[in-house]
Amino acid sequence: MNNQDANVKDTVFAEKKETYWRFLFGYSIFAILFWFIEFLLQYYWISNGEAGISLVRSFSFSGATLIGLALFSSSVFRWIPSTAAYWRIRRYLGVSGFIFALLHVVSAYRTVFDFDLKSIYFSFNPLINPIIFGSIAFPILMIMTMTSTDWVVEKLTYKTWKNIHRLVYIAYISVIFHFLLINPGLLVNVPGYILILVTIMAVFGQLFWFLKISKRNRFKSKGFFIGIILITITFILTYLAFVK
Ligand code: HEM
Repeated sequence: MNNQDANVKDTVFAEKKETYWRFLFGYSIFAILFWFIEFLLQYYWISNGEAGISLVRSFSFSGATLIGLALFSSSVFRWIPSTAAYWRIRRYLGVSGFIFALLHVVSAYRTVFDFDLKSIYFSFNPLINPIIFGSIAFPILMIMTMTSTDWVVEKLTYKTWKNIHRLVYIAYISVIFHFLLINPGLLVNVPGYILILVTIMAVFGQLFWFLKISKRNRFKSKGFFIGIILITITFILTYLAFVK
Protein backbone atom coordinates (compact mmCIF):
# COMPACT_ATOMS: atom_id res chain seq x y z
CA MET A 1 0.00 0.00 0.00
CA ASN A 2 1.49 3.39 -0.95
CA ASN A 3 1.25 6.50 1.21
CA GLN A 4 -1.72 7.88 -0.67
CA ASP A 5 -3.74 4.64 -0.19
CA ALA A 6 -2.88 4.64 3.50
CA ASN A 7 -4.08 8.25 3.79
CA VAL A 8 -7.38 7.44 2.03
CA LYS A 9 -7.91 4.42 4.31
CA ASP A 10 -7.18 6.46 7.45
CA THR A 11 -9.61 9.18 6.33
CA VAL A 12 -12.42 6.68 5.63
CA PHE A 13 -11.78 4.99 9.01
CA ALA A 14 -11.80 8.33 10.84
CA GLU A 15 -15.06 9.32 9.09
CA LYS A 16 -16.66 5.99 10.01
CA LYS A 17 -15.58 6.43 13.62
CA GLU A 18 -16.95 9.96 13.63
CA THR A 19 -20.33 8.80 12.23
CA TYR A 20 -20.37 6.05 14.86
CA TRP A 21 -19.80 8.48 17.76
CA ARG A 22 -22.29 10.96 16.32
CA PHE A 23 -24.92 8.24 16.07
CA LEU A 24 -24.20 6.98 19.58
CA PHE A 25 -24.45 10.53 20.91
CA GLY A 26 -27.76 11.10 19.07
CA TYR A 27 -29.15 7.83 20.40
CA SER A 28 -28.09 8.69 23.98
CA ILE A 29 -29.96 12.00 23.76
CA PHE A 30 -33.05 10.12 22.53
CA ALA A 31 -32.84 7.56 25.39
CA ILE A 32 -32.41 10.25 28.07
CA LEU A 33 -35.31 12.29 26.62
CA PHE A 34 -37.48 9.18 26.49
CA TRP A 35 -36.79 8.47 30.17
CA PHE A 36 -37.35 12.13 31.07
CA ILE A 37 -40.81 12.13 29.46
CA GLU A 38 -41.62 8.88 31.31
CA PHE A 39 -40.48 10.57 34.53
CA LEU A 40 -42.62 13.67 33.94
CA LEU A 41 -45.66 11.47 33.23
CA GLN A 42 -45.10 9.57 36.47
CA TYR A 43 -44.33 12.61 38.59
CA TYR A 44 -47.10 14.95 37.44
CA TRP A 45 -49.80 12.51 36.50
CA ILE A 46 -49.53 8.98 37.85
CA SER A 47 -47.41 8.98 41.02
CA ASN A 48 -48.78 12.07 42.82
CA GLY A 49 -45.61 14.13 42.74
CA GLU A 50 -43.55 11.57 44.67
CA ALA A 51 -40.03 11.84 43.26
CA GLY A 52 -38.64 8.54 44.64
CA ILE A 53 -41.38 6.26 43.34
CA SER A 54 -41.55 8.27 40.07
CA LEU A 55 -37.88 7.42 39.54
CA VAL A 56 -38.45 3.70 40.29
CA ARG A 57 -41.37 3.59 37.87
CA SER A 58 -39.94 5.76 35.08
CA PHE A 59 -36.74 3.67 35.06
CA SER A 60 -38.80 0.46 34.99
CA PHE A 61 -41.07 1.55 32.13
CA SER A 62 -38.18 3.01 30.12
CA GLY A 63 -36.11 -0.17 30.61
CA ALA A 64 -38.86 -2.64 29.72
CA THR A 65 -40.02 -0.56 26.72
CA LEU A 66 -36.52 -0.15 25.23
CA ILE A 67 -35.75 -3.86 25.74
CA GLY A 68 -39.02 -4.68 23.95
CA LEU A 69 -38.07 -2.34 21.10
CA ALA A 70 -34.65 -4.04 20.86
CA LEU A 71 -36.36 -7.40 20.40
CA PHE A 72 -38.86 -5.99 17.92
CA SER A 73 -36.05 -4.43 15.87
CA SER A 74 -34.63 -7.96 15.28
CA SER A 75 -37.90 -8.86 13.53
CA VAL A 76 -37.94 -5.62 11.52
CA PHE A 77 -34.39 -6.36 10.29
CA ARG A 78 -35.70 -9.69 8.97
CA TRP A 79 -38.91 -8.33 7.45
CA ILE A 80 -37.06 -5.49 5.73
CA PRO A 81 -33.50 -6.77 5.12
CA SER A 82 -32.23 -3.35 3.97
CA THR A 83 -32.77 -2.06 7.53
CA ALA A 84 -30.35 -4.69 8.89
CA ALA A 85 -27.55 -2.23 8.12
CA TYR A 86 -28.75 -0.36 11.22
CA TRP A 87 -28.26 -3.40 13.51
CA ARG A 88 -26.39 -1.25 16.02
CA ILE A 89 -29.71 0.32 17.01
CA ARG A 90 -30.72 -3.03 18.49
CA ARG A 91 -27.58 -3.03 20.65
CA TYR A 92 -28.14 0.55 21.79
CA LEU A 93 -31.79 -0.14 22.62
CA GLY A 94 -30.84 -3.28 24.57
CA VAL A 95 -27.94 -1.73 26.48
CA SER A 96 -29.84 1.46 27.34
CA GLY A 97 -32.82 -0.72 28.36
CA PHE A 98 -30.54 -2.60 30.73
CA ILE A 99 -29.07 0.61 32.19
CA PHE A 100 -32.60 1.80 33.03
CA ALA A 101 -33.45 -1.65 34.44
CA LEU A 102 -30.34 -1.41 36.65
CA LEU A 103 -31.41 2.04 37.89
CA HIS A 104 -34.92 0.64 38.46
CA VAL A 105 -33.61 -2.24 40.57
CA VAL A 106 -31.27 -0.06 42.67
CA SER A 107 -33.94 2.62 43.18
CA ALA A 108 -36.58 -0.02 44.03
CA TYR A 109 -34.26 -1.66 46.59
CA ARG A 110 -33.61 1.77 48.10
CA THR A 111 -36.98 3.56 47.87
CA VAL A 112 -39.45 0.70 48.23
CA PHE A 113 -37.55 -1.71 50.51
CA ASP A 114 -34.74 0.31 52.10
CA PHE A 115 -32.39 -2.58 51.21
CA ASP A 116 -34.25 -4.98 53.53
CA LEU A 117 -33.52 -8.25 51.72
CA LYS A 118 -35.92 -10.21 53.95
CA SER A 119 -38.89 -8.10 52.89
CA ILE A 120 -37.82 -8.17 49.22
CA TYR A 121 -37.46 -11.95 49.14
CA PHE A 122 -40.27 -12.85 51.54
CA SER A 123 -41.19 -15.71 49.17
CA PHE A 124 -39.29 -17.43 46.39
CA ASN A 125 -42.49 -18.40 44.59
CA PRO A 126 -42.58 -15.99 41.61
CA LEU A 127 -46.37 -16.14 41.41
CA ILE A 128 -46.61 -14.94 45.02
CA ASN A 129 -43.60 -12.60 44.83
CA PRO A 130 -43.17 -11.30 41.22
CA ILE A 131 -39.84 -9.75 42.23
CA ILE A 132 -38.46 -13.25 41.69
CA PHE A 133 -39.33 -12.89 37.98
CA GLY A 134 -37.48 -9.55 37.91
CA SER A 135 -34.54 -11.09 39.76
CA ILE A 136 -34.30 -13.92 37.19
CA ALA A 137 -34.35 -11.45 34.30
CA PHE A 138 -31.87 -9.01 35.76
CA PRO A 139 -28.63 -11.11 35.79
CA ILE A 140 -29.38 -12.45 32.30
CA LEU A 141 -29.82 -8.91 30.96
CA MET A 142 -26.59 -7.95 32.72
CA ILE A 143 -24.63 -10.77 31.07
CA MET A 144 -26.10 -9.80 27.70
CA THR A 145 -25.10 -6.18 28.18
CA MET A 146 -21.58 -7.10 29.27
CA THR A 147 -21.16 -9.17 26.12
CA SER A 148 -22.56 -6.52 23.79
CA THR A 149 -19.34 -5.22 22.25
CA ASP A 150 -17.62 -6.16 19.00
CA TRP A 151 -14.51 -7.10 21.00
CA VAL A 152 -16.40 -9.68 23.12
CA VAL A 153 -18.17 -11.14 20.07
CA GLU A 154 -14.76 -11.66 18.47
CA LYS A 155 -13.24 -13.20 21.62
CA LEU A 156 -16.18 -15.53 22.31
CA THR A 157 -16.79 -16.45 18.63
CA TYR A 158 -20.15 -15.60 17.08
CA LYS A 159 -21.64 -19.03 17.87
CA THR A 160 -20.97 -18.88 21.65
CA TRP A 161 -22.07 -15.25 21.74
CA LYS A 162 -25.30 -16.11 19.93
CA ASN A 163 -26.01 -18.97 22.34
CA ILE A 164 -25.54 -16.62 25.32
CA HIS A 165 -27.85 -14.07 23.72
CA ARG A 166 -30.57 -16.69 23.20
CA LEU A 167 -31.09 -16.46 26.96
CA VAL A 168 -32.92 -13.23 26.21
CA TYR A 169 -36.11 -15.27 25.69
CA ILE A 170 -36.01 -16.48 29.32
CA ALA A 171 -35.23 -12.93 30.50
CA TYR A 172 -38.01 -11.38 28.44
CA ILE A 173 -40.68 -13.87 29.55
CA SER A 174 -39.60 -13.16 33.16
CA VAL A 175 -39.78 -9.37 32.59
CA ILE A 176 -43.31 -9.68 31.17
CA PHE A 177 -44.58 -11.76 34.11
CA HIS A 178 -42.80 -9.38 36.51
CA PHE A 179 -44.55 -6.27 35.23
CA LEU A 180 -47.93 -7.94 34.63
CA LEU A 181 -48.11 -9.30 38.17
CA ILE A 182 -46.32 -6.84 40.45
CA ASN A 183 -48.69 -3.86 40.27
CA PRO A 184 -51.16 -4.26 37.36
CA GLY A 185 -52.92 -0.96 38.18
CA LEU A 186 -49.76 0.87 37.05
CA LEU A 187 -50.25 -0.37 33.51
CA VAL A 188 -53.53 1.47 32.91
CA ASN A 189 -52.12 4.78 31.68
CA VAL A 190 -50.01 6.10 28.78
CA PRO A 191 -46.62 4.58 29.84
CA GLY A 192 -48.41 1.28 30.53
CA TYR A 193 -50.21 1.29 27.15
CA ILE A 194 -46.95 2.05 25.32
CA LEU A 195 -45.22 -0.79 27.18
CA ILE A 196 -48.05 -3.23 26.41
CA LEU A 197 -48.10 -2.23 22.72
CA VAL A 198 -44.32 -2.63 22.38
CA THR A 199 -44.48 -5.97 24.24
CA ILE A 200 -47.19 -7.27 21.88
CA MET A 201 -45.15 -6.15 18.85
CA ALA A 202 -41.99 -7.82 20.21
CA VAL A 203 -43.75 -11.10 21.08
CA PHE A 204 -45.58 -11.16 17.73
CA GLY A 205 -42.29 -10.65 15.83
CA GLN A 206 -40.51 -13.33 17.84
CA LEU A 207 -43.33 -15.86 17.29
CA PHE A 208 -43.59 -14.99 13.59
CA TRP A 209 -39.91 -15.67 12.95
CA PHE A 210 -39.83 -18.66 15.27
CA LEU A 211 -42.55 -20.33 13.18
CA LYS A 212 -41.12 -19.21 9.84
CA ILE A 213 -37.58 -20.43 10.63
CA SER A 214 -38.86 -23.64 12.25
CA LYS A 215 -40.93 -24.36 9.12
CA ARG A 216 -37.86 -23.78 6.94
CA ASN A 217 -36.03 -26.37 9.11
CA ARG A 218 -39.05 -28.71 8.86
CA PHE A 219 -39.75 -28.38 12.59
CA LYS A 220 -36.73 -30.53 13.38
CA SER A 221 -34.12 -28.09 14.68
CA LYS A 222 -32.91 -27.86 18.30
CA GLY A 223 -34.21 -24.26 18.38
CA PHE A 224 -37.71 -25.49 17.58
CA PHE A 225 -37.78 -27.87 20.55
CA ILE A 226 -36.34 -25.26 22.93
CA GLY A 227 -38.93 -22.76 21.64
CA ILE A 228 -41.76 -25.24 22.25
CA ILE A 229 -40.53 -25.83 25.82
CA LEU A 230 -40.46 -22.06 26.48
CA ILE A 231 -43.93 -21.55 24.97
CA THR A 232 -45.31 -24.43 27.07
CA ILE A 233 -43.79 -22.95 30.25
CA THR A 234 -45.31 -19.56 29.35
CA PHE A 235 -48.76 -21.13 28.90
CA ILE A 236 -48.48 -22.96 32.24
CA LEU A 237 -47.39 -19.76 34.02
CA THR A 238 -50.22 -17.80 32.38
CA TYR A 239 -52.72 -20.41 33.52
CA LEU A 240 -51.35 -20.44 37.08
CA ALA A 241 -51.12 -16.64 37.30
CA PHE A 242 -54.35 -15.52 35.64
CA VAL A 243 -56.79 -18.42 35.24
CA LYS A 244 -56.49 -20.73 38.22
C1 HEM B 1 -34.09 -7.48 41.30
C2 HEM B 1 -34.89 -7.16 40.32
C3 HEM B 1 -36.12 -6.29 40.43
C4 HEM B 1 -36.76 -5.74 41.51
C5 HEM B 1 -36.40 -5.86 42.99
C6 HEM B 1 -37.90 -5.00 41.01
C7 HEM B 1 -38.81 -4.31 41.79
C8 HEM B 1 -39.98 -3.75 41.34
C9 HEM B 1 -40.99 -3.15 42.16
C10 HEM B 1 -40.96 -3.05 43.68
C11 HEM B 1 -41.98 -2.71 41.35
C12 HEM B 1 -43.31 -2.06 41.77
C13 HEM B 1 -43.11 -0.58 41.79
C14 HEM B 1 -44.38 0.14 42.16
O1 HEM B 1 -45.41 -0.47 42.42
O2 HEM B 1 -44.31 1.34 42.17
C15 HEM B 1 -41.59 -3.01 40.00
C16 HEM B 1 -42.32 -2.70 38.89
C17 HEM B 1 -41.87 -2.83 37.62
N1 HEM B 1 -40.70 -3.45 37.21
FE1 HEM B 1 -39.30 -4.25 38.42
N2 HEM B 1 -37.92 -5.07 39.65
C18 HEM B 1 -36.85 -5.87 39.26
C19 HEM B 1 -36.49 -6.16 37.96
C20 HEM B 1 -37.06 -5.62 36.85
C21 HEM B 1 -36.55 -5.75 35.51
C22 HEM B 1 -35.28 -6.48 35.09
C23 HEM B 1 -37.41 -5.07 34.69
C24 HEM B 1 -37.28 -4.87 33.21
C25 HEM B 1 -36.88 -3.79 32.70
C26 HEM B 1 -38.48 -4.53 35.51
C27 HEM B 1 -39.57 -3.81 35.05
C28 HEM B 1 -40.61 -3.35 35.84
C29 HEM B 1 -41.76 -2.65 35.34
C30 HEM B 1 -42.04 -2.29 33.86
C31 HEM B 1 -42.54 -2.33 36.44
C32 HEM B 1 -43.82 -1.48 36.44
C33 HEM B 1 -45.02 -2.25 36.07
C34 HEM B 1 -45.90 -2.59 37.23
O3 HEM B 1 -45.68 -2.15 38.36
O4 HEM B 1 -46.85 -3.36 36.99
N3 HEM B 1 -38.22 -4.87 36.82
N4 HEM B 1 -40.38 -3.65 40.03
